Amino acid sequence: MSIPKIVCQNISKIFIQKGSQRVHVLQDISLEVQDNEFLVILGPGQCGKSTLLRIIAGLETPSEGSVLLDGKPVTKPGPDRGLVFQSYMLFAWRTVMGNVEMGPKLNGVPKTERRKIAQRYIDLVGLQKFENHYPHQLSGGMKQRVGIARAYANGPQVMLLDEPFGQLDAQTRIFMEKETERIWQTEKRTVIFVTNNIDEAIFLADRIVSLENKLPGRMASVYDIDLPRLREHTDMKFLHLRQMITDESTLIL
Ligand SMILES: Nc1ncnc2c1ncn2[C@@H]1O[C@H](COP(=O)(O)OP(=O)(O)O)[C@@H](O)[C@H]1O
Ligand SMILES: [Mg+2]
Repeated sequence: MSIPKIVCQNISKIFIQKGSQRVHVLQDISLEVQDNEFLVILGPGQCGKSTLLRIIAGLETPSEGSVLLDGKPVTKPGPDRGLVFQSYMLFAWRTVMGNVEMGPKLNGVPKTERRKIAQRYIDLVGLQKFENHYPHQLSGGMKQRVGIARAYANGPQVMLLDEPFGQLDAQTRIFMEKETERIWQTEKRTVIFVTNNIDEAIFLADRIVSLENKLPGRMASVYDIDLPRLREHTDMKFLHLRQMITDESTLIL
């Protein structure tokens, strides 16, 4: 058994608000993510998914517990973790190329080299010929492709995605899930993907960790998804899993 890429050890999070009001968001989350594993964190809105991902990203500190990446404690964000958010967070005044090459540029990578890196990931996400477009000229799906390319361009070992397709219409979303599968098969990374969508979770995950439907978010169940890829939503085994996970969770679909 190899060392896990990411370890979350007994993570709890309590936000202290103004007037010293406490919001207990996460309780005792412990999980290990293996190198190149595709882990999905599944749960309804407001159960602490984003908070957990932000702690793994180093954007929040846990109140208790710790996160280890390659055995070392995470204390701040780093280029070893690429982030993709639901809201695209693209620079409106920069082109696709400008957005994707931003990370390497900030890291001092010379122009020719960073262009090459950016082009590679623009091609990977299927945006070739759109290099000089601005975000407002792109559809939602295309914007999220830029987000994925931008995250890859920093050379992360781990990709953290927070409901990346939550804003897309149903058809585009299913298409982007297939694209995510293709991109991950081409450039394997350790992935932690947050969603509230059971179908999306089963389609993509090696393993699903579901969180409870109330605060503080605790781990409810863990499901190994050993269906062969590329998965079919209408496959009997897919539907069986879907029914089981739906029954076992109190998710509002
Ligand atoms: N910075 C914060 N201060 C206070 N409460 C917060 C903060 N961030 C998140 N929360 C609270 O934590 C709960 C879970 O939020 P979140 O992690 O975004 O859940 P999810 O991503 O599952 O919808 C919410 O009730 C939210 O209001
Ligand atoms: Mg969230």
